Amino acid sequence: MWPDRRILDLFGIEHPILQAPMAGAQGSALAIAVSDAGGLGSLPCALLSGEQVRNELQVIRQRTDKPFNVNFFCHQPPAADAAREARWIERLAAYRSELGVDRPTVPGGRAPFNEEMCALVEEFRPRVVSFHFGLPEKALLDRVKRAGSRVIASATTVEEARWLEAHGVDAVIAQGAEAGGHRGMFLSEDIASQPGTFALAPQVVDAVRVPVIAAGGIGDGRGIVAALALGAAGVQIGTAYLLTPESTISAIYRAALKSAREDQTVLTNVFTGRPARGLVNRMIRELGPISGEAAAFPNAANATLPLRMKAEAAGSGDFTSLWSGQAPRFAREMPAGELTRELADAALKRLRAIT
Ligand SMILES: Cc1cc2nc3c(=O)[nH]c(=O)nc-3n(C[C@H](O)[C@H](O)[C@H](O)COP(=O)(O)O)c2cc1C
Repeated sequence: MWPDRRILDLFGIEHPILQAPMAGAQGSALAIAVSDAGGLGSLPCALLSGEQVRNELQVIRQRTDKPFNVNFFCHQPPAADAAREARWIERLAAYRSELGVDRPTVPGGRAPFNEEMCALVEEFRPRVVSFHFGLPEKALLDRVKRAGSRVIASATTVEEARWLEAHGVDAVIAQGAEAGGHRGMFLSEDIASQPGTFALAPQVVDAVRVPVIAAGGIGDGRGIVAALALGAAGVQIGTAYLLTPESTISAIYRAALKSAREDQTVLTNVFTGRPARGLVNRMIRELGPISGEAAAFPNAANATLPLRMKAEAAGSGDFTSLWSGQAPRFAREMPAGELTRELADAALKRLRAIT
């Protein structure tokens, strides 16, 4: 039995394991598999249109009656800065000529949580809604809560955790520096001072009353038990699920992850304009890892996407964001439901052995 039932009761789940929402790397299939296994599956919506979100939610509703989480970005869209965007596009000119790619023209991408998405939450009423990069404006947040969804969001510092609690979240995800993908930071931009999971989680536990979910570098029973010992009520796990058959990452990404080591990830802003942890590749080596020239999030991605598509078509991951946390060795090639049950069993066995 799990010693701490707070998030089990809050979310109506069997194991305190949240599958991290991973935009661009998964859809409903992974969420369904994890929720069916007793964890909390997540549907990332940051890269989906309203119609795609609706379709995915319908699939989840048809295939499982278990609780699940729906995840959104809620960044402040950057002020228009045509000169900066033009400079970034120019910076990539040599790569475009090397690959034979046209100058990018496509604007937009990654809209923050908005009226349309909020209406979908109200229609489907998921048990949990999670946010990355802070919280949406109060009117939208109130509507999510009135729809009956529990609200959670990522904090990368104690200050962010306190801010989230003061703005009404039901639980805080303490995202340590080890975590793969975008840092959920929203009160600070300083990645150099970001604490790791082991330091962050217990300090957040001490600072807030709501349950804390630890994220970053957790990928096996030992990590889960360690997080619980630090006072977390649950864990959010991303990278460990990336090699499951339900993950939708490309063959190139899969191959890179399979041989990845713990010392091969960095925080970089060259793909999207915001710091995110991924495996080092050519684009990071030559432009980053942190570039002062990258256009603001999410606009930097518009300029890099055509390079990525062309390179991938030729079998190269040189321009692909290969998001990964610092524990890529825990990524397992097994069905996500089985992985969820194995993680839970391993943690429970270890808990019994030490108590
Ligand atoms: C491929 C990938 C994509 C991610 N996309 C999102 C996302 O869309 N929304 C979000 O809240 N977090 C996202 N994250 C961050 C996770 O929520 C979580 O913090 C992280 O996966 C935990 O660290 P781990 O990967 O070491 O388990 C992503 C992580 C990865 C690896």
